[in-house]
Amino acid sequence: MSKYRIAWLPGDGIGLEVMAATRIVLDALELDAEYLDGDIGWDFWCGEGDSFPLRTIDLLRNVDAAMFGAITSKPVKAAEAELVPDLRGKGLVYRSPIVRMRQLFDLYVCLRPCKAYPGNPLNYREGIDLVVYRENTEDLYSGVEFHPVPQELADTLGKLARPFAPFAKLAADEYAVSCKINTHKGSERIVRAAFEFAKIHQRRKVTVVHKANVVRASDGLFLETAREVAAGYPDIQTDEANIDALCMWLLKNPKNYDVLVAPNLYGDIISDLCAQMVGGLGFGCSGNIGSKLAVFEPSHGSAPKYAGQYKVNPIATILSARMMLDWLGEAKKSAALENAVAAVIKEGKVRTYDMGGSNSTLEMGEAIARRL
Ligand code: IPM
Ligand code: MG
Repeated sequence: MSKYRIAWLPGDGIGLEVMAATRIVLDALELDAEYLDGDIGWDFWCGEGDSFPLRTIDLLRNVDAAMFGAITSKPVKAAEAELVPDLRGKGLVYRSPIVRMRQLFDLYVCLRPCKAYPGNPLNYREGIDLVVYRENTEDLYSGVEFHPVPQELADTLGKLARPFAPFAKLAADEYAVSCKINTHKGSERIVRAAFEFAKIHQRRKVTVVHKANVVRASDGLFLETAREVAAGYPDIQTDEANIDALCMWLLKNPKNYDVLVAPNLYGDIISDLCAQMVGGLGFGCSGNIGSKLAVFEPSHGSAPKYAGQYKVNPIATILSARMMLDWLGEAKKSAALENAVAAVIKEGKVRTYDMGGSNSTLEMGEAIARRL
């Protein structure tokens, strides 16, 4: 029996390619693991009307961790049009499997470290070392959405909220409502996770990202909760920033920031911004972490236009595997892997197209494996 059971979910598009490169690296590390293939992604939506079938959910209930590649997501109508004919018109609604997975398994932390490795020609500035803690289960991702808007909801909003008046006259399909739901518990645990990380890793500052000046109820709750949590960490500097201003300041002075914590949607946005500062999505690694299960994936999508070419950079996925090693408690292997990635970047001989080179996805995996 292997020490670890790891669900292996390549998904589709370039997901298959970056995962293949990552497997070369994990095999070279001789991680004592059994990798269990799971079905997920666009093909399963088209063929069976479910991109995240029950058998894959069951698999995830019985593993120590999972590695996930990427999957294609399309808006509701475009998704319906691609179903096999038998399944069309049956009211099936496409929802992103990764969003469902985060909610189903309560993977409430989305951890996204963004580090500028020396020698990476894509670094926006040298020395950037940011860590994003993104709330991962609620906020505008709660999935409570209406289009058309039921009359019952419109009547209630008309009674309860004066600012609803201009919308009350609209026909049900002339507007849409997406609920941004933030809870005290959800806000508390993500902010606490960020501060605990800062404490353990001796990081100097945690910046709480919000838009509480306008989105007063839900972001107000997030911000107030963050203040409560921060009071318990007097040795760590706490900073608060509106999401819009933060984007500007982050670009101007990235080194003024350290750990950032945000509700789901703002966290989604700043994680791409931060990833771009350290080389783009080819370097954006991520972990979806709950108390029982953690799923590691690159922050990028399935990039259909590059699929099948084996040209995209697998480093984001390889660094995500490194985060998985940390989560499993394999600190030595994790450090070895990070050193190998850093060495290949610094040497600059093997580079994928995004870095100005012509090496393939798998050649990058092999180069990192050789450094181990
Ligand atoms: C991410 C992605 C996902 C998200 C998409 C693919 C649903 O952008 O992981 O950041 O919005 O969370
Ligand atoms: Mg994103």
